[in-house]
Amino acid sequence: MNKKERERKVEALLSEITLEEKIGMIHGSEFFKSAGVERLGIPPIVYSDGPNGVRKDFEPARMKEKGTTADEVGCGPCNTSIASTWNRSLAWGSGRMLGEEARGRGKDMILAPGINIKRNPLCGRNFEYMSEDPYLISELVVPLIEGIQETDVSACVKHFACNAQEYERFMVNVEVSDRALREIYFPGFEAAVKKAKTRALMGAYNLVRGSHASQNKWLLTDVLRKEWKYNGLVVSDWGAIHDTKAAAESGLDVEMAVIPEFDDYYMAKPLLKAVKAGEIDESLVDEKVRNIIRFLINIRKIDVEIKKTAGGKESARAVPVPERNRGTYSNPAHAMRALDTARESVILLKNEDKRLPILPEKAKKILVIGDNADRKHSDAGGSAEVKALFEVTPLLGITKSYGGNTVVDYARGYYVPEEKKYAPDEQMPWEEYIKMSKAKDPRYSRTYSADEKKLIKKLKAEALALAAEYDEVIFVGGLNHEYDVEDKDRRDMKLPFGQDELINDLLDVNPNMVIVMFAGSPVDMTAWSDRAKAIVLMAYNGMEGGSALGEVISGKVNPSGKLPETLPMGFENTPVAHFGEYPGRKLTKEESGRINANITQTFNEGVFVGYRYYEKFNVPVQFPFGHGLSYTKFTYRGLSIKDVKGKPVDKRKMSDGLFVVSVKVKNTGDTCGKETVQFYTGEANPSKDNPVKELNGFEKIELKPGEEKTVSVVLPVKAFSHYDESVGDWVMMKGEMKIYAASSSADVRLTKNVKI
Ligand code: BGC
Repeated sequence: MNKKERERKVEALLSEITLEEKIGMIHGSEFFKSAGVERLGIPPIVYSDGPNGVRKDFEPARMKEKGTTADEVGCGPCNTSIASTWNRSLAWGSGRMLGEEARGRGKDMILAPGINIKRNPLCGRNFEYMSEDPYLISELVVPLIEGIQETDVSACVKHFACNAQEYERFMVNVEVSDRALREIYFPGFEAAVKKAKTRALMGAYNLVRGSHASQNKWLLTDVLRKEWKYNGLVVSDWGAIHDTKAAAESGLDVEMAVIPEFDDYYMAKPLLKAVKAGEIDESLVDEKVRNIIRFLINIRKIDVEIKKTAGGKESARAVPVPERNRGTYSNPAHAMRALDTARESVILLKNEDKRLPILPEKAKKILVIGDNADRKHSDAGGSAEVKALFEVTPLLGITKSYGGNTVVDYARGYYVPEEKKYAPDEQMPWEEYIKMSKAKDPRYSRTYSADEKKLIKKLKAEALALAAEYDEVIFVGGLNHEYDVEDKDRRDMKLPFGQDELINDLLDVNPNMVIVMFAGSPVDMTAWSDRAKAIVLMAYNGMEGGSALGEVISGKVNPSGKLPETLPMGFENTPVAHFGEYPGRKLTKEESGRINANITQTFNEGVFVGYRYYEKFNVPVQFPFGHGLSYTKFTYRGLSIKDVKGKPVDKRKMSDGLFVVSVKVKNTGDTCGKETVQFYTGEANPSKDNPVKELNGFEKIELKPGEEKTVSVVLPVKAFSHYDESVGDWVMMKGEMKIYAASSSADVRLTKNVKI
């Protein structure tokens, strides 16, 4: 259907709907549904979390699980893992799987992907997000959304914008410069809107510049709709709306929340009353309904039939589209997709003396230690929880990778207290949940009973005794979803459950021990990282995560993941701490009069987020952005820069290609491997206000031993431009620039200068 025809249908159907019915369509009618109009054949919209799998089913007006097996699904790697692959086609495959599963489960919109900038290592939801770098996010979010949307469902990119902490997440106001917004916080969303054509976007809980993001007119209308020409759906985060008039006027379409009094939502009865009283114009409501109808047509849930009535007038009604994709879920093909992505997301941080791989023919006995080796993570973390059909743990993955000729034993090593679980019909009310989230954090004020203390000692003694007996010991620890979790930030980057001490003691008895860290956000490994010979990092890697780990450790798969964020030494070393307002300051008197927030957090570091900060201020890090080793070696040569031929470059057009940059990369080792070649750009003599260098291109290639390939990228005008606040637009830099070909942000192999 062409655009003109679609818009005619939208208008025809809109004209049939009464004001009361329109109001009924623009707010939740269940926790994960917004109503249609039965009389006109308009179906409801069915929403579901989340970023790595379709969430379980709940009762309509209670967060009580339905509790059958019908919602056991495929579970892919989380967004941090997807970003660690640096592989656009795996991002597409992950999206495609998510879309098919969502459709198979009868959903219209999957509340994903989450792409907030990983600004602060302590943010509880970091595992749901991709990276600290806007270019890497933009490159991966586009295929991911395209993959989802090919299946006749909608993605819902979230949380727009500046959602960077969980502490006071409903009531933290963010102040941020225009330049940081344009260069760091907006590009991922802009790519999702303009390139991937996302059909939906979710506003954030936090405030941006004094107004709650989900009802922020500047963000949702001026930037999103007018500047980026977005005509998709805008959904609030669940419970993010605070005012009827602001919401109605903001550019928001659907208000969602998790309270069962649906008629009391701001965009329900209160809005109807205000429209009837003439305080809010009905045309604002019409615009929202227009967006909803267009959305339903775009996901092929409805078509609109227009008929001429006897009197020559037209009448319209919605009809289902029988050819709509019916999706599929929980099938072997999806498990394979999850495995493909998991394999490439495993990051080899350190590998002295070629500790890894531990080849099966050489390993008679392996000891695996650590709670995370034997823990399933999928069904936790908050709204990103997934009731996975199965989840291969690291212990299972490692054991099955070695087969029957190797004995794999296990010792838990450290104690993880079980979280208090609510019985299914003992669901905590929303208000109480919010109150609880503000109470003293039990994770940091934990006391242990005498029995627990005994158990802790016993587990440690057992692990130490066994570690001395085994040649091959693999420790699998890190965080779990008690720490990588929605609604709570961590206090520090330290490992929980006494792991630092245990790892050091284990290294005393077995200095060859391999260490695997599970984490969706940076953890501080400095207590033992110098002593460890091999360190592997992975985030929550989905249903086949353990299989992928086993394959990497045993050498069946050569690791090729690279860090999508810097691992700083500790929170004190981060830009957030250095420029410091985290977790937020009290509002000034003037702010209290005008802003409905509890605290303000100014992003004082501006564009110096992640490696942009560490490089500029010479701050040492544990492991740099883009780092990740392979079992083979790659050499780089012949960096060449050529002008893009063809039509003359328009320097105001940021997407216009400027240079073709090429480099030859050779596998000089003896195993097949994959390398992500990274291209950074910066000024030859970086000025005070600009980062030293920024990622502006990458390609991942596979090379056989001895094979060489040429990798080329086109660097556009934008790679040499910055947002100039005095002009209110992007402006190209002048003078001598440097182009870097690198294996990580700190492992620059070749550079060349060009004049602009
Ligand atoms: C989260 C969203 C999620 C929504 C629905 C909110 O609390 O912030 O990311 O999609 O709940 O579960």
